[in-house]
Amino acid sequence: MKYINLNDYFLQIKKPKQYSIEEVLFTGQAPDKGLFAPETFVHYDKTLIKYMKGERYADVAFRILYPYFDDIPEKDFEAIVHKVYGKIKAPVRELYQNIYILELFHNWTFAFKDFAAQLLAGVIEYFLKKTNKRIVVFVGTSGDTGPAINEAFWKKKNIKVYCLFPKKGVTPIQRKQMTTLGENIFNIEVDGDFHACQEMAKAALNDDYMKYFNPTSANSINWGRFIPQEVFSFWFYSKIAEYPEPVIFSIPTGNAGHIGANFLAQKDIGGLPVARFIAPHNLNNYMVRMLKNMKKQVAVTRTYNCLSNAMNVKQPNNIPRILYIFDNDMDKMQKLIYPVTISDKRTADIMRQVYKDQNYLLDVHSAVSMAGVFDFLERHPKYRDYKIGAFLTAEPAKFPEKIKSIMGFEPPIPEKLKKQLAAPEKNVFSLKANDLKGLQEIVYNTRKSS
Ligand SMILES: Cc1ncc(COP(=O)(O)O)c(C=O)c1O
Repeated sequence: MKYINLNDYFLQIKKPKQYSIEEVLFTGQAPDKGLFAPETFVHYDKTLIKYMKGERYADVAFRILYPYFDDIPEKDFEAIVHKVYGKIKAPVRELYQNIYILELFHNWTFAFKDFAAQLLAGVIEYFLKKTNKRIVVFVGTSGDTGPAINEAFWKKKNIKVYCLFPKKGVTPIQRKQMTTLGENIFNIEVDGDFHACQEMAKAALNDDYMKYFNPTSANSINWGRFIPQEVFSFWFYSKIAEYPEPVIFSIPTGNAGHIGANFLAQKDIGGLPVARFIAPHNLNNYMVRMLKNMKKQVAVTRTYNCLSNAMNVKQPNNIPRILYIFDNDMDKMQKLIYPVTISDKRTADIMRQVYKDQNYLLDVHSAVSMAGVFDFLERHPKYRDYKIGAFLTAEPAKFPEKIKSIMGFEPPIPEKLKKQLAAPEKNVFSLKANDLKGLQEIVYNTRKSS
């Protein structure tokens, strides 16, 4: 598979420059800051979809992802995928009649981001072993990506991670998940919001000085962080439906990498019969406004500080990729996507309702996903007979303060998180927003450590 720069696509350049997967992973974005995307998408054979029914997660992931990584010998890629996903947990259950949940939060850092972060780290490590090159990885986080990336790259040879997080925007547990690892992991608390962190991480990629350190990105602007998430739809489908039965999926949306990758699974592109995607947002609802106004770009507002803090993204990075996936055709998008804004009050109400109905504790992000399902069914009762799958993205224990204030009790905290909460912080720096010079100094001063 060859990759192109989406800026070339939007400029309608006839023969856009092609990139290999290695170039894509090791640069994160094109020199002019364009996003990479594959030249073509993969349509999976229906027998392959049927065959997935009894398979393990690693097998499904290998089949779905290999076409995007086919510069790597098949056996090598299979080995990477099995090493990363061999013991992964992604359980599915029916919570209400015809409403299913996929729990994506049982692994390394108790967040769905682990799936893509670990695979990206596995593939990067594979390429690095062949070259002996040293790289630095920049990541801007709103709270859940940082822990997942730091953990995935922790102790990996010839890699240093610089993780920028909003000083006031992450929970104490998320902070400790990032800051207690040490070794090759460096954390920078930024006096600003997620966008300030993301902008600094992106600016670092294009900075002439940083180029000396071979920078790449571990945000979902990096295709290697984006595409592994596509597997979720196939896995979920294989657990709840019989091909070609249509289903509906609800995917909580912030930076739109998660839902964007899953759009690729849909029948016109990937072959999976997903009738609709529910895209629930918190008040940071760019895609809702986009589809309401049928405009490819809408005004960027301020960041609203909502309960689902990891989704507090005022301008999602992945919109150009989504437009590309839909052939730059907003009518196609509107037919498939049901975008909805979920208030904090509604989020909290759904948490209480689901707990009362099913004795099931949702985290604040997963609650947005479930709220999307209920809202969709109220608006479109004709879909009541469909199987609907809600993607649940984080473990409630990561947000104990919020759970306590909404539910009146604290969630049980897994042992690993308890240990991290009690551990001392390592390699933590502070910077003001936009202080690229300060970031350069940190990278320079830590170049010899670990
Ligand atoms: C727990 C959780 N749920 C949902 C999302 C939304 O995913 P995306 O930003 O890819 O839209 C995030 C993103 O950080 C998250 O951390």
